[in-house]
Order: sequence, then C-alpha cells, then structure tokens
Amino acid sequence: MNEPRKPRPIRSRQAKLAAIGAGALLFAGFALAPAAVGAAAPPVYPAAEVHKPSPIPDRMILIPTATPATGQRVSWRAEATADTAQAQILEAPRALGQVAPAPGAVATVPAIASTPVNTTLGYASTYHTVEFTGLKPNTRYTYRVGDGTNWSAWTDFTTAADGFEPFSFIYYGDAQNYIDSAVPRVFRQAFADRPQAKAIVNAGDLIDSANSEEQWGQWFKAGGFIDGQVNNISIPGNHEYSGGLSTFWRPQFPYPDNGPGDAELKQTVYTLDYQGVRFIGLDSNVQSNAALMAAQTTWLEGLLKDNPNKWTVVTFHHPVYSTTGTRNNPNVRAQWAPLLEKYGVDLVLQGHDHSYGRGNQVAARKSATVHNGVAYVVSVSGGKMYALNGGENWTGNGAEVRSSSQNTQLYQLIDVADDTITFEARYANGEHHDGFTIRKNDKGERTVNEIRTAENTVGEQVTVDKTSVRRLEQVKVSAYGYDPGEKVAVWWREQDDDDARRGGGGRNGTLIGYEKADELGRLEETVRVPVLVKKNGTYVVYLDSQNQKITSPAITVTK
Ligand SMILES: [Fe+2]
Ligand SMILES: [Fe+2]
Repeated sequence: MNEPRKPRPIRSRQAKLAAIGAGALLFAGFALAPAAVGAAAPPVYPAAEVHKPSPIPDRMILIPTATPATGQRVSWRAEATADTAQAQILEAPRALGQVAPAPGAVATVPAIASTPVNTTLGYASTYHTVEFTGLKPNTRYTYRVGDGTNWSAWTDFTTAADGFEPFSFIYYGDAQNYIDSAVPRVFRQAFADRPQAKAIVNAGDLIDSANSEEQWGQWFKAGGFIDGQVNNISIPGNHEYSGGLSTFWRPQFPYPDNGPGDAELKQTVYTLDYQGVRFIGLDSNVQSNAALMAAQTTWLEGLLKDNPNKWTVVTFHHPVYSTTGTRNNPNVRAQWAPLLEKYGVDLVLQGHDHSYGRGNQVAARKSATVHNGVAYVVSVSGGKMYALNGGENWTGNGAEVRSSSQNTQLYQLIDVADDTITFEARYANGEHHDGFTIRKNDKGERTVNEIRTAENTVGEQVTVDKTSVRRLEQVKVSAYGYDPGEKVAVWWREQDDDDARRGGGGRNGTLIGYEKADELGRLEETVRVPVLVKKNGTYVVYLDSQNQKITSPAITVTK
C-alpha cells in the first residue's frame, strides 16, 4: 500500500512575490508614520519630563581656559546651590571603586559660578562652573562634579602639553535640527574615529531656538559623555541669538574672557593657544554692527600679528564665501579675509549654509590640486539641508571651490603634526568625502595639497614659464602635489606621442634627469630643450613619479 503523500508547502511564484512585497513594505515603512498598536497612538512624552533637572549632574562639558596646560574649566547642570556645587579631582588612578585614592590625592574645588537659567518648561536649569588650576601639563586627571552627596561619574581628561605637541581635534558645522534623531550618530562616529581628540570646534547654530531648554537638552544628550572629556570650542551662530545672546550661552560655555573687551562679545569672542595651535573664535552675528565688527577686526589683527604658534585656526559662523542660495557676507569678507590671508591663517572653519564647501582664493592657486593660501571650509552636521548654489559667491569674489556636497551630514577630523595639518571630512556613515594636507616649512611657506584620488592625479598640473622656445633654450618647470622628497623623472617628449596617449609614460621621449620634490611637495626644474627636436614641433614636459604622472601645456619649438 502506498503511503499517502505529505502535503508540500505551497511556494508558488505568487507567494514569493507576496513575501518580497511584505519585505519591501517593511523597509518603505521607515518613511511612513508608524502604525500604533491598538486604537490610539501614544502621547508624546513631555519635554518637561525628558529634560527635568535633578540633583544628579548632567550636561557636563569641558570648557578650555586660556592656559590649557595648567587650567581647566568644567560646567554642568544640576539642582544644587551655589554653596554646595563642587568638583573633586586627582591624577588619573589605575582604579577607583573598591580602591580608595591615596590619602591627600583628591582635591575638592568649589564652584566659581552657579547660574539658574529660567526655562519655558516650568523649571530653572542651574549651571555650575568649576575651574581647576595649578594642574601639571600633559597629565591625565580624573574628576567628578556634584553637591558633595550626589555626584557624576568619575571622568578623565588630559591637560595640554606645555608647547607644541601633535594632537587631533574635531570640527562640526551646524547641528541645529534633528538634534535628538540624526545628530547623535554623527557625534558618535566622529568620536569613534578620533577618540583621542583634544577639542571639538562648533562653528555656530548648535541648536535652532536660542532659548529652548528642550533643544539644549537634546544637544547635550547628543554629545553624551564625550563632552565631559573633550574640550569644547564653540562660537554662536544666528540661532544662538533671539533678541540677544541665548541666556544659556554664558552659563553653559564659560569661555576665556579675553576678547576685544566689549560686554556684548564676552565669551563669544575669545582665543586660546593649544599645543602649538592658536584658536580664535569670532562672532559674525554682529556683522552689521560697525563698532563691534571693528573691535573684533582690531583684536584679530593683534592676535595674528603677534603669534608664536606655527598653526592658526579661526572659526566664526557666517562664511567668507557662501555655498547656498544668494547668501553673502560682505562685511565678514571685507574685514576679516584680508587679515586671514595676510597672516597665513591655516584653517577657517564656518557654518550657516547647511551644505559643504571648501576652497581658497584664486590668487593662491598653484595647480589643479594645490594652493598655498587659507583653506576656507563650510560644513553641516545636522539634518537640515540647503541646496548648493553654483559657487557664484566664491567665483564672484576671487575664490574657487575645490570640494562641495549637499544633502550630507558631515564631521571633520583634523590632525595637527609638526610640519602638517591633515584635514578630512567624512559623512555620517563614516565614508570619506574630502581631505587635504597643509604642509608648512620653518620659513612659514605653505602648500595645501588635496588628498590624492585617481581623478586628481592626472591632467595639466605642470607650469612652464614659456610655451614657445628655441633649441637648447631653457624652460623653467614647476609642479606641486608631491610627497616631500618624492623622486620625479623629468621627460621631454612630443605632444602627440603615441606611447603617452596610450598611458605608457614618457619613455619614447628624452629623459632630462631625476629630481626630488622639496619638503612642501614642490618641484622646480630647469629643462634645456634638446638639440634633436623638430622645427614647429610641439612638445611637452612629462613628470613621472610614483604618485603623479602629469604633463605640461604644449611647448612649440620655433627654430
Ligand atoms: Fe544654521
Ligand atoms: Fe546660521
């Protein structure tokens, strides 16, 4: 007797399609309103509950002093009184918890300020500041803040070295919107990529509504524990103003009071030297106020003229060259850009345009991939996006964009070394967007070199001093974009050389010789036109090295 056949699961084409459809729906569901389970959607949890202060400290943030090798400020929020707010600090021990610090190791420091900020959520957020002084340079400390009973977690930081020492920092353009949803992954990825960063620069518009307790709460949550252990260098954008500077700004961000001296600019305009980098923060929100602009311009020039640091980074909100719409900041450009150029500022870090743009003045252009001027950058870390314009505000004002991007959230990693600053912009998902290396020698000469890509290592990047020559005449050849000391073969060859057209290098031509790029990646060479050349023939100088295969414009031999 035959066994009855087991029913086979039906797996028809229709069923498969239905399954695929369900998967696609699930994925597409991201863009749809989430379906509530049951009849009514849950209510929004009130901001007054989410951000309510308690005696347990939150919103801890490291605020640099003007002497970061020996002093450090910390601010935080907690329901504590001026007489109880305090911090404790000791040199970072190998263990805590069951392991008690050595007797006398812990110093207790009372707060220097406790400021209640009234909020619209029915409570005041009280910010406290302590200042640690007399610290040892380049030393790791552990601190906690609280009221003597209710404490934060023990948290570590390292003081700046006394003088130059390589370090990294992070720079963000506007966070501002979607702070609780889209911004945290950017901050986390940046910290994952540079956990050793010593500072975070924010070029304004940290939040959207200057006096919103909810948004400041979101901003501090987005930074999380990172802010308690990395110094924050923020300057205000227009969204930190609403009929005046945000009432939160100075209690949260007690920056050095070393600006131009105007009360309006206190702790929005300040400077500090950190391990060989002079950081200068300016307030571009007052660009229509002639007196406050003039005060900043004079102060800026003083700091640039008398600057013992090799590197200089300037940050303000409204860009010198705008990347978005018809935006234009002529006062910022007219008053600050000439000084930034004259005194060789290395990086100008800006925001406001909710897109990415990076470039330089055309006068500084040296080749398709190299310039020797100021690197101007606009970036955005948050989720609000503006479309790029066609670069008119750059080209119309003597500048050029070398990299741009729209609809991308970005963070920037900046590595400072003895002879170089390396800058890289990455997207929220960690992928590379743009990058360059600034090289500077002891004479203060500088090149700003794109990070090499397949696209930018070909093409006309060789400059010649003449394109019409006679036999045995000398041609001055220069090129940029090499690694320091890179060996370069210099060839003279026919312009329409078949081998060259096939990408085979210049080996059908005449080898003039070998040269080495200098410490800034520059090559200078005098080439004597060979005797065996054709009259009216057109030739090129071809430079062949490991990193670049580049060709000069055509040179015609007249006799
Ligand atoms: Fe903005
Ligand atoms: Fe803005």
